[in-house]
Amino acid sequence: MDSRIATAARVAGIEPFHVMEVQTAARALEAAGRTVVHMEIGEPDFPTPAPVLAAALAALAGGGIYYTSALGIPELRQAIARHYAERFGVSIAPERVIVTAGSSAALLLVMALLVDRDQQILLSDPGYPCNRHFVRVLEGEPLGVPVGPQTRYQLTADLIEAAWSRRTRGVLIASPSNPTGTQVPPDELRKIAATCARLGLRLIVDEIYLGLTYDGEPQSALAITGEHADDIFVVSSFSKYFNMTGWRLGWVIAPDRHVRDLEKLAQNLYICPPTVSQRAALAGFLPGTLALLEERRRAFRDRRDFLVPALRELGFGIPVMPSGGFFVYADSQAFCREVLEAVGVAITPGLDFGRHRAATHVRFAYTIEMAKLEDGIERLRRFLRDR
Ligand SMILES: Cc1ncc(COP(=O)(O)O)c(C=O)c1O
Repeated sequence: MDSRIATAARVAGIEPFHVMEVQTAARALEAAGRTVVHMEIGEPDFPTPAPVLAAALAALAGGGIYYTSALGIPELRQAIARHYAERFGVSIAPERVIVTAGSSAALLLVMALLVDRDQQILLSDPGYPCNRHFVRVLEGEPLGVPVGPQTRYQLTADLIEAAWSRRTRGVLIASPSNPTGTQVPPDELRKIAATCARLGLRLIVDEIYLGLTYDGEPQSALAITGEHADDIFVVSSFSKYFNMTGWRLGWVIAPDRHVRDLEKLAQNLYICPPTVSQRAALAGFLPGTLALLEERRRAFRDRRDFLVPALRELGFGIPVMPSGGFFVYADSQAFCREVLEAVGVAITPGLDFGRHRAATHVRFAYTIEMAKLEDGIERLRRFLRDR
């Protein structure tokens, strides 16, 4: 191979998002004058709340947009800790909160902290694709454990016990999950934390969709896992519940003893999270903003309550009701490209989320308003009838 154009072997192991091809094809259809119902988009359609925008503008006007501590500004770390007390009823020392450049950076930092070459992280298959790539980039081995409706598409203590080996460093769970929108029940999460502690595995819980849950009060792993709560990593973000995807701000609540090492990693990998975004995010916790976000959460719940029965009626297999996030993972023989070209509905192929039964699943996102969802369902009805 010509060494001038050689790239590291790890790059070949990183897969592209197949949904991007659907999106490119959808845009081409739109350019040709067709309308497309976008049910592939993985971010809220709601705009950033006005108080957050106002705080960003004030921060810009005030100047002083310099680097911050790699751990984030103290006011924001305190505000996040307060939010856990008020929303989830759990007391967290602000010193455990590390503000990051999206939860993506939080996940990367935690993986960089834990994973050495050839060491494994257990993940659910299907699951959020970037996680396996974070592990791969660090020369570790992401081990996807097939999960299905029997376990709500989530790992369980028994599955972890059966899959771990001496090379396993940790277990990553997302609850609610992308692409399935399902959660790990509190009892099971307790068992998982106890199993991980017994086997010497680190537990990372991605709670990026926890604010967007629809059946009962949201419960953080920090409140559920009791004696193990000080030893787990909980990752979250301003992207989804706070409608701030493009602001690139998230956080991780880490065990005390790892904060210094995570700080060193953050300093070196990206110096600090974005300064304007941090100042803006403080306004995310104002009572008025939270009231607006709760209204939007109810809108997502209404969309779910419309979409899931409508898809089931059309014959899509949705054995477990999704309880959070904004995704529905459905068993389907329909091919995404075919649906797009025939009736202009863009959805995400299961292949983006792993290998286990991926070819017979698709993900629907309800990140569009109700009228568009209704239009999407009508188009799907036509597709299935005419096929
Ligand atoms: C489960 C899950 N975790 C993490 C992320 C990363 O989000 P962000 O970096 O915007 O916080 C996403 C984004 O879609 C996600 O679905």
